[in-house]
Amino acid sequence: MTVPSRHDPALDAQWMPFTANKAFKARPRLLVSAKDMHYQSDDGRAILDGTAGLWCVNAGHCRPSIIEAISRTAASLDFAPSFQMGHPLSFAFADKLVPLLPDGMRHVFFSNSGSEAVDSALKIALAYHQARGEPERRMFIGRTRGYHGVGWGGISVGGIEANRKTFAAQLMPHVDHLPHTHDLAHNAFSKGQPLWGAHLADALETMVATHGADRIAAVIVEPLSGSTGVLVPPVGYLERLRALCTQHGILLIFDEVISGFGRLGAPFAAQYFGVTPDIMAMAKGLTNAAVPMGATTVLGSIHDTVVQAAPRGIEFFHGYTYSGHPLAAAAGIATLEVYQQEGLFARAHALSPVWEAAVHSLCDAPFVIDVRNLGLVAGIELEPRPGLPGARAFDAFVNCFHEQDALIRVTGDIIALSPPLTISEEQIHELVAKVRRALESIA
Ligand SMILES: Cc1ncc(COP(=O)(O)O)c(C=O)c1O
Repeated sequence: MTVPSRHDPALDAQWMPFTANKAFKARPRLLVSAKDMHYQSDDGRAILDGTAGLWCVNAGHCRPSIIEAISRTAASLDFAPSFQMGHPLSFAFADKLVPLLPDGMRHVFFSNSGSEAVDSALKIALAYHQARGEPERRMFIGRTRGYHGVGWGGISVGGIEANRKTFAAQLMPHVDHLPHTHDLAHNAFSKGQPLWGAHLADALETMVATHGADRIAAVIVEPLSGSTGVLVPPVGYLERLRALCTQHGILLIFDEVISGFGRLGAPFAAQYFGVTPDIMAMAKGLTNAAVPMGATTVLGSIHDTVVQAAPRGIEFFHGYTYSGHPLAAAAGIATLEVYQQEGLFARAHALSPVWEAAVHSLCDAPFVIDVRNLGLVAGIELEPRPGLPGARAFDAFVNCFHEQDALIRVTGDIIALSPPLTISEEQIHELVAKVRRALESIA
């Protein structure tokens, strides 16, 4: 058997996720190591990480204390069963997480990814309504352009058409979608939250009238939509959604897989916007992505209702072999310590005006039709190439990687930037200059 060398692997066997496999394998982009703000490519270049990996390496790459915690744990407790058994690290991690969570959230259910955290959230919502004697509340309201991972629950409540169309015939029933808030006619070049669009939350009233409030279990939204191309919630929108959910006894689920762990300059978007959901899904920055992990947190009242409704035995028939895995829990504890010791959430907040000014300087770069930002996130929308949606931004992505030594992310014709929270002011300007050069190169 020949083992592929590190720098020359055979590429055929792996079927890559969310990737144009044929094009990638014809011209691969391989990352072989990482440190702080940079990746190293297989041809030896230092690549500036403009995306914190995939919105997840919030504390920068290969942090020594996180590596040390994982290594120590791997050598002493590789695995412990998670059903009817436990180990101290996952309890310690949950305990350490609670003070960071929005007020009233006191319990954490562990999984292995954002997709699983979302599916867990949906199941908890159904279990809660059943426990309180309203089992007919089983409908979910998502939002168009929402991304909630790739589980059946996530793609059903999600609203990214490309992710749904192949599976459309088998999606979950009893789902409807709010309109998204993206409208360049009103919101182009907004700095921070757009002023227009709070009224779009009122579509929930129409759904209540159509379906009946007593049939709706929960509304799920990303407080700031990331994967669909950085849609910042309009001023007052989330507050309106919260008020309507409360009025109609509908649970509000925030998917904070991207917006959590300091991305907006607060622990979670919930605190940034001052809007507390009933259930919240998280992942990514939870462990600085060093070990896969997801988590779902709920208000104390939701946990207590579900747990107390069961007379004896297992209260919630749901869980994963690797829920609270020792390596993930160890990585998570070490990650929270890095965030705290280095004040990274406050750092992101302090840097956000510099970030805003830098990304908006791209307003006159070729093809740019919008720039939007919040915290340390930015979306740069390009005019699509006629008849070839997404092609322009993809060319910018490829140019950035091969020619500018920068990693950016693109979705459709939108460039999404979300660097590690450790980025310096100088690196912010460097990243923006690289994006400008890429756009000029493909012009
Ligand atoms: C908002 C949101 N929810 C869920 C997910 C799914 O997470 P995962 O890929 O870890 O399953 C993502 C991934 O980007 C996300 O952005």
